[in-house]
Amino acid sequence: MEKLRIGFLASHNGSNMQAIIDSIKRGELDAIPAVVISNNSNAFALERARREGIPAYHISSKQYPTEEELDKAILETLIKHNVNIVCLAGYMKKVGPKVLNYFKNRVLNIHPALLPKFGGKGMFGKFVHEAVLNAGEKESGCTVHLVDEIYDHGRILGQKIVPVYPDDTVETLAQRVLEQEHKLYPEVLQKIAKGEIVLD
Ligand code: GRF
Repeated sequence: MEKLRIGFLASHNGSNMQAIIDSIKRGELDAIPAVVISNNSNAFALERARREGIPAYHISSKQYPTEEELDKAILETLIKHNVNIVCLAGYMKKVGPKVLNYFKNRVLNIHPALLPKFGGKGMFGKFVHEAVLNAGEKESGCTVHLVDEIYDHGRILGQKIVPVYPDDTVETLAQRVLEQEHKLYPEVLQKIAKGEIVLD
C-alpha cells in the first residue's frame, strides 16, 4: 500500500488524533496527517491541527444543510488532500454514503469497549463505560474497527484489554481505556502501513 495519508474526522478533544500525530513525529508510525475535519467549530481537535500545521476545516450542517451536501463537501476535502485512509477520532456524526463508498474498507474508528459488546447507536462516551460497569464486567478495553453503514459493526482490526476494578467509576474506567486507545490506534495503523493488516 502507498504511504498512508490520514484524514481525521473529530468532534471534540482529539486526543486519539494527537496520539497518532505524536507517533508519526516519533518515527514509530509511517504516515502523513493530511487533513483534519470537524463538524464542531470549537473542537479542540481543530486547534491541535493548527498547532501541528495540518490543514483544518470546520464542515458541518451549518454550511451544508442536507446530508448529501455535507457528505459531498467532506469527500471533496478528503480527496483534495490526497487522503487514502480516514480515521474517525471521536467523530459524533454518522459518515455519509459517498465517503464510505469512495473509501471502502478505508474508514477506521476507535471505540472505547471490546466490540461486539457495548456498541451500537447511543453507545458513546460515558454511556459505554456505564453499561460496562452496570453489566459487572471484569474486563473492558478498546477496539479499532472498519466503519460501515451500521454503528460499531465493521471488521475488527485490533483490541486492547484493561481490567475493571470493583471500585471503578465511569471516570476511572474511561481514563484507563483511553490510555490504551492512544497506543492501539497508532499500532493498528502501523500494521496497515507495513501490510500486516490488509484492508481489502
Ligand atoms: C474516545 O473514547 C473514542 O473511543 C471515542 O471517542 C473518544 C474520543 O476521544 N470514539 P478523543 O477526542 O480522541 O480524545
